[in-house]
Amino acid sequence: MQPSYTHLGGLRDIESFRRYLTERQINLPCDDKLISGATSPLAQPIDLGGIKIGNRIAAQPMEGWDGTAEGRPTELTLRRWQRFGASGAKLIWGGEAVAVRHDGRANPNQLLINKHSHDDLSRLREALVNAHRQATGSDSDLIVGLQLTHSGRYSRPNAHGRPEPKIVYHHPILDRRLGITPEYPLLSDQELKQIIEDFHNAAVIAAHAGFDFIDIKHCHGYLGHELLSAHTREGDFGGSFENRTRFLREITHAVRAANPALAMAVRFSAFDVIPFYKSEVESCGFPEPINDLLPYRWAFGANADDPLEPDLREPLKFVSLLQDLGVKLVNVSAGSPYYNPHIQRPAFYPPSDGYSSPEDPLVGVARQMRVTREIKQQFPELIVVGSAYSYLQDFLPYVAQAAIRDAWTDFVGLGRMLLAYPSLLLDVIEGRTLQRKLVCRTFSDCTTAPRAGLPSGCYPLDPHYKNSANAAQLKRIKTQSKDK
Ligand SMILES: Cc1cc2nc3c(=O)[nH]c(=O)nc-3n(C[C@H](O)[C@H](O)[C@H](O)COP(=O)(O)O)c2cc1C
Ligand code: SF4
Repeated sequence: MQPSYTHLGGLRDIESFRRYLTERQINLPCDDKLISGATSPLAQPIDLGGIKIGNRIAAQPMEGWDGTAEGRPTELTLRRWQRFGASGAKLIWGGEAVAVRHDGRANPNQLLINKHSHDDLSRLREALVNAHRQATGSDSDLIVGLQLTHSGRYSRPNAHGRPEPKIVYHHPILDRRLGITPEYPLLSDQELKQIIEDFHNAAVIAAHAGFDFIDIKHCHGYLGHELLSAHTREGDFGGSFENRTRFLREITHAVRAANPALAMAVRFSAFDVIPFYKSEVESCGFPEPINDLLPYRWAFGANADDPLEPDLREPLKFVSLLQDLGVKLVNVSAGSPYYNPHIQRPAFYPPSDGYSSPEDPLVGVARQMRVTREIKQQFPELIVVGSAYSYLQDFLPYVAQAAIRDAWTDFVGLGRMLLAYPSLLLDVIEGRTLQRKLVCRTFSDCTTAPRAGLPSGCYPLDPHYKNSANAAQLKRIKTQSKDK
């Protein structure tokens, strides 16, 4: 049965929100009042590991499914990067996932490293920096990274409706979902070595295009993340922790050798649970049956005997390795939007092909925050970014402010909220009245749209999308899926 939980939009004020947290025994830091100006925790600069950043707001990477077939940015892409810049976030985490090669694109409109990339990426970065300077008066304390990716199991490079998975092991549940037969080939060690080379080449381009760091993406079920759970794979990239992290180590060594000045970062899914599906009986997401799959060997950061529970032992070892490899920035995410979205992206309204949350989405927010705090406590020299705050809606600034002050994280990373209301936290710092009508309500249209082959964006709240032809098409798609 779907559990009952309150829509946060229905809680009147911060007292009601705090009361709700207490009643539900959800442990989140939360301030009573917002602080503006130089004393705001969100406005504090940070100087760690030789990296200086002007405030505690991070823009999370978010693709828009709006590049050209050749993987070049369009006007919509440019607009999104400008809005990220104008948000006031002084840490731009990669803008969006950029595929290092064509067959590793997550969709046919994903940005792609190619012969135009130097100019295209420079243009995007400059547009972002200019918008940032206009909004905040200075870019001297801004750092901008580029997220590099290979989509692995979730590659869909040529047509929206045509998955072309590149897998590193056979998964007893996810193979079935993608129609992968037992004979389907795995990426060979040699092919993985070529992909390592592709990451390296992409890093060189990013450095020349002026980016301050690259993110070697290890989250959300894509290739880097799948390799971390390749317990059942044979050869150099599977089995032991050392082998499962070889991909990361070889990329970092190659990047360091060619570009000693380029900082390195990793966004990773710090824990995982088994895949969920939409259960008609339960009317919400429900875990796949796994009785004959125990101990569970197909996840990273899940308890093998009870894979509905995180197990942080290996993820903490992974962060320790990151530190040894000279990675300076770590962005903590979780799970995957493909097989357990309520873990990764807590929402009140599911996307049209998704399931209702089987838990109060606030529990999901608190889970990611708790793990981020644990990582920050154990690795104080690393710059740590937390994720999944958007579900907090009107209460996000109160939680963000307390989380920074109480050192749960160095940065509050904003995803969906940036699509809906980019300047939310800048407005707090500058003491402006908050615009409730712009607050993301986790309607999930930014996820439903791309799954239907449309560009992503905040259709309900961003006027550019709200009034577009695609909005009418999205409405039809949502109505059809409700009628089914
Ligand atoms: C439309 C959309 C696109 C996203 N694209 C990326 C991406 O390119 N790379 C990535 O690491 N995460 C991506 N994410 C995940 C977000 O960065 C973020 O982790 C997630 O939305 C949870 O944070 P939030 O609660 O602030 O939205 C995307 C999320 C959305 C909604
Ligand atoms: S479509 Fe807009 S309101 Fe809905 S989840 Fe995405 S950003 Fe939030």
